Amino acid sequence: MLKKIGLIGGGYIGGVLAQEIAQRRLAREVGLVDPAPMVNPSDPEERQAVTRKQSVAIGKCLDIAEGLPTIARDITLVGSKDYSSLKGAELVINTAGVPRKARPDGTFPSREELLAINLKVTIQVAKGIQENCPDAIVISVANPLDAIVYTLDKRLNPPKNKLVGMAGVLDSGRYRYFVAEAARVSVDNVNAIVLGGHGDDMVPVRSSCQIAGIPVEKFLDAATLAAIEARTRKAGGEVVGLLGFGSAFVSPAWAALEMAESIIFDRRKILPVCAKLEGEYGVHGLFVGVPAILGRNGIEKIIELDLTDEEKAALDKSVAGVKKTCDEANGMLATL
Ligand code: 2OP
Repeated sequence: MLKKIGLIGGGYIGGVLAQEIAQRRLAREVGLVDPAPMVNPSDPEERQAVTRKQSVAIGKCLDIAEGLPTIARDITLVGSKDYSSLKGAELVINTAGVPRKARPDGTFPSREELLAINLKVTIQVAKGIQENCPDAIVISVANPLDAIVYTLDKRLNPPKNKLVGMAGVLDSGRYRYFVAEAARVSVDNVNAIVLGGHGDDMVPVRSSCQIAGIPVEKFLDAATLAAIEARTRKAGGEVVGLLGFGSAFVSPAWAALEMAESIIFDRRKILPVCAKLEGEYGVHGLFVGVPAILGRNGIEKIIELDLTDEEKAALDKSVAGVKKTCDEANGMLATL
């Protein structure tokens, strides 16, 4: 159990994170930051006064705190509209940013289109971490994932082990679920890794997909696997399209918590995570999804897989996409 976990963003993912941290006894204290609702200067003064008193973060913390006697948990939950409730956090999970939301015509913006808005938010996030818990291990979930983690790295310049993005656990969870469903076996039996960026070019690695240690091809034919892999790449968008009000939130929160638990309890699980590569997989200075051991120091070791030529080419394509978004982020950051 940690002394304190900081959560940035009190939206749907942040809410699941706070309640699960209490339920799973992961920390004695949770600090939840969210500036919402923001005061609109063009509102009449009475309306502004009401908004000033409201706080999603404080409200969510109070809601969970009032349920603690029912679930028999003792934990302190502190919410704030500024970053002060992060003070002293040993681990921070960042979900701050605008999620993908369906447009009235049913289409929705790509993760990359959120870049401009979410970069501004990320600059504040980095400042808040720097001022309140500069030594914390940071797990970032906000989209576009790879570029936001890259931006946090540029602003915070932390040791390589202390900043990690959550995407691969979610993406491989989706791959595993679809395989289990098609093969009619327990999800628990399916092992799989998704590499690369958290976008439509991510790489579900068929050569690492096994059911109870047996290659997946023994259970499913090539066409079924190709369809599952295509669905995995677009799975985030599938949920956005169905929900209509935002993106997936339970599965991303659980995925971030799987990473957090491996760190908090020093479990040293090998999980696909978004890590800074300095030569691994031939990539320099970008954050890309790769398998890594997560333990008490955060990223303990990056694992290099032997990929087929086809998988290598797919990873190169995905990395090129990550680089493009990070270059765009660099351009925008210079003007912010
Ligand atoms: C997703 O893929 C939220 O990025 C997240 O659903």
